[in-house]
Parts: sequence; structure tokens; C-alpha cells
Amino acid sequence: MVDKQLVEAKFKDEDPRVRITAIRLSENFLASEDTDLFNDFEKLVNDRDIGVVNQLALSLRYSKAKQATDMLNAISKKYSQNEIVSHSVKESLKKDDSKLSKLKEKIADRNTDDKNSILRGYDSYHQLCITCHGAELTGLPLEDGSLIAPPLIGSARVKGDKGMLSKILLNGLIGPIEGKDYGIMMPLKDNSDEWLADVLSYIRAMNNEDAVNRSYIRNARRQTKDREDYWTLEELEE
Ligand code: HEC
Repeated sequence: MVDKQLVEAKFKDEDPRVRITAIRLSENFLASEDTDLFNDFEKLVNDRDIGVVNQLALSLRYSKAKQATDMLNAISKKYSQNEIVSHSVKESLKKDDSKLSKLKEKIADRNTDDKNSILRGYDSYHQLCITCHGAELTGLPLEDGSLIAPPLIGSARVKGDKGMLSKILLNGLIGPIEGKDYGIMMPLKDNSDEWLADVLSYIRAMNNEDAVNRSYIRNARRQTKDREDYWTLEELEE
């Protein structure tokens, strides 16, 4: 594996060919859902060498992060007159399309309200949850192989009782899950009922389960309005 600090240093090399090579080398990090390099990339968007910008447009396809899509859109705007760069951006943006079209296929039989809710949830998931639960909802691995957050695919809580799932999102969660310690799931009660229902509908759709109506969130909110602490699964499963 390439050393990340070395790659970062080479982003600033005077020779554009070295900067291009450094961007190529960073594809490994991008593919493993690493977003540390995005600060450096922000600067490379404005690189004086167009070859460097083009390489960035090509390499960003390896990242599933929302930031990569945003950056590709920014490059596209800035270099709309440059045919080569525009083409690279377009090719790199296809990665998103394929994921979204797979989701659309998966939910093709559902009613329009549910579909819209799931698609809004897909966006929210990619803005927030993805940084810990990963693009494939399997949990993002740390360097030692342990997961930052538990997998949401196959989780009995995600597939199970919608009221309990709503409570987990409202107040957050702490303590072991199936014998493993991850850390803390933060409370999300500042978000609207709709926002929470949408994101839950998305993660349930990825488990082939039905959508979550806003009323589940509303009821759970009412039932737990005096609670401030995180939940533990032990408590919720009582
Ligand atoms: C900063 C990291 C982080 C983010 C962002 C995050 N989570 Fe979590 N999530 C965790 C951790 C850590 C746990 C495990 C908590 C525990 O061990 O008690 C968890 C647990 C969960 C669980 C319980 C899983 C189970 O099997 O019991 C659900 C459901 C969940 N998260 C959904 C979400 C959703 C939906 C989002 C986005 C709206 C999100 N999380 C965003 C870190 C995160």
C-alpha cells in the first residue's frame, strides 16, 4: 500500500506529471472510502495544469463519497468549455447513476409515495450515514479491520419493529450490538419526521423491507419526549 503522506506531499510537487501520478496513486484510498484527501483535491480542482484537473476528474470515479460527486459537478461547471475534461467528468459520474438505477429497479413495484420517500432517503443517507455505515451499508472498516459502525444490511433492528427503529434514530444508541462494541450512534431528533422516515425507508428498502410511514416517527417522538439519554439495545428489547 502507498503511503498517504507521501502522496499528499507529491500533490504539491512542481512537476505536473508528478502531481498526476500522485492523484492516480490516491485511487486506492478513494476506493476504500477514505475521504481524507478531499481537502487536497479541493486545491487541485484549481490546478494551473489542465492535465492535473483531468486526472482528478478521472480518478474521482473510484470514490463513492458524496464529496466526489460534488467535486465532479464543480469541475464540470468550471471546465465546461474543455471537451476532454467534460468527457472525463461525465464518465466518472456514471458510477452514481448505476447505483441509483439499481435502487430504482429494486423498488420499481412500490407505490409512488414510497418510491419518492426511499429516493429522498438515499440522498440523506449519502450525505450523512455513509461516512460510518458505508456505501454498501455494511459498516466502514477502520485500518485494523474493525468496523466504525455496524452493518445495516441484515440487522434485526433495521428489518424489525419500526417503532423501535425510530427510537434508535431519535435518541441514538450506545452499548454492545450482538456482542460487539462500536461506539455511539448519535441522536438525530433535530431532524423532521419526514427526513427520518425517508432515511429509514431507504435502509429498509435495501433490506427488502417495506417503507416507514412518518406516523411511526411521530409516535415514537411522543412516547420518548422526556428521554434525553441514548438507548441501549438491552433497554429497547425489554
Ligand atoms: C459518526 C458515525 C455514524 C453516523 C454518521 C451514523 N451512524 Fe448509525 N451507528 C453508528 C454506531 C457507532 C452505531 C452502533 C451503536 C452501538 O454500538 O450501540 C450505529 C448504529 C446504528 C443503528 C443500529 C443498528 C443495529 O443493528 O442495531 C442504526 C439503525 C443506525 N445506526 C442507522 C443510522 C442512520 C440511518 C444514519 C444516518 C441518518 C446513521 N446511522 C449515521 C455510527 C454512525
